Amino acid sequence: MKGAILAGGLGSRLYPLTYATNKHLLPVFDKPMIYYPLQTLVNAGIDEVIVVTGGPHAGDFIHVLKNGEEFGIRHLEYAYQEGEGGIADALRLCEAFVDGESVAVILGDNCTDFSIRGDVESFHGGARIFLKQVPDPHRFGVPRFDDPQKPSRILRIDEKPANPQSNYAVTGLYLYDAQVFDFIRLNKPSARGEMEITDVNNQYLEKGALGWAILDGFWSDAGTFESLYRTSVYWTRKKLGPAAEALLRDSAQAVTL
Ligand code: G1P
Repeated sequence: MKGAILAGGLGSRLYPLTYATNKHLLPVFDKPMIYYPLQTLVNAGIDEVIVVTGGPHAGDFIHVLKNGEEFGIRHLEYAYQEGEGGIADALRLCEAFVDGESVAVILGDNCTDFSIRGDVESFHGGARIFLKQVPDPHRFGVPRFDDPQKPSRILRIDEKPANPQSNYAVTGLYLYDAQVFDFIRLNKPSARGEMEITDVNNQYLEKGALGWAILDGFWSDAGTFESLYRTSVYWTRKKLGPAAEALLRDSAQAVTL
């Protein structure tokens, strides 16, 4: 399976942080944000990766990722997305690279310690999404289940609904077969003018070809100030262990001095 990291956009929700570089290169504790989704792909055994980026700082990626060798990547490719056409539009640019195979797609601001290795190894076509319970589902793609009390069958996925029908988020981590590019071609821009990955997932759902799993681990996007901070705190704790508590306590105390 090949891997695609979608890292376009202007990162305007993080202005002024993103005036001078791309959102996906901002620090999450001790590493640029994009290291985390990249590691998720590498840990799954994927060593051919495409990074789709865009905006005025697209060239910055090459200084950070170079040819991918130090991450264990055999082949690293870049694609440039014009404008802000959305996630499905970014994925469209990966068709030649994927070349009829299947692809693990991860959004460049999605940080998780969950391993998709088993899911990648057992993938036999269609699509697979990963769900996580969240306190703020209205920020995400949200599945409606046939039985809200006992999630089993997804009826449809709503993109950033005002009245979410469950408290699960569709995380920005997806496995697709090569049919995904046919579905994208059928896609029309949404009300916000973007080609939505949720529409693609709903197309798989209508064909009875959308599988799902619970993401059993930490997951957060890092595209807002709050989620960027939360993600950094999580990785600080994970990497420093008990020493992180003293650091976080000291920082909290410094604020109250
Ligand atoms: C995107 C997708 C949404 C998904 C989210 C995960 O939203 O459109 O369905 O739940 O990523 O991070 P956005 O990038 O607009 O936050």
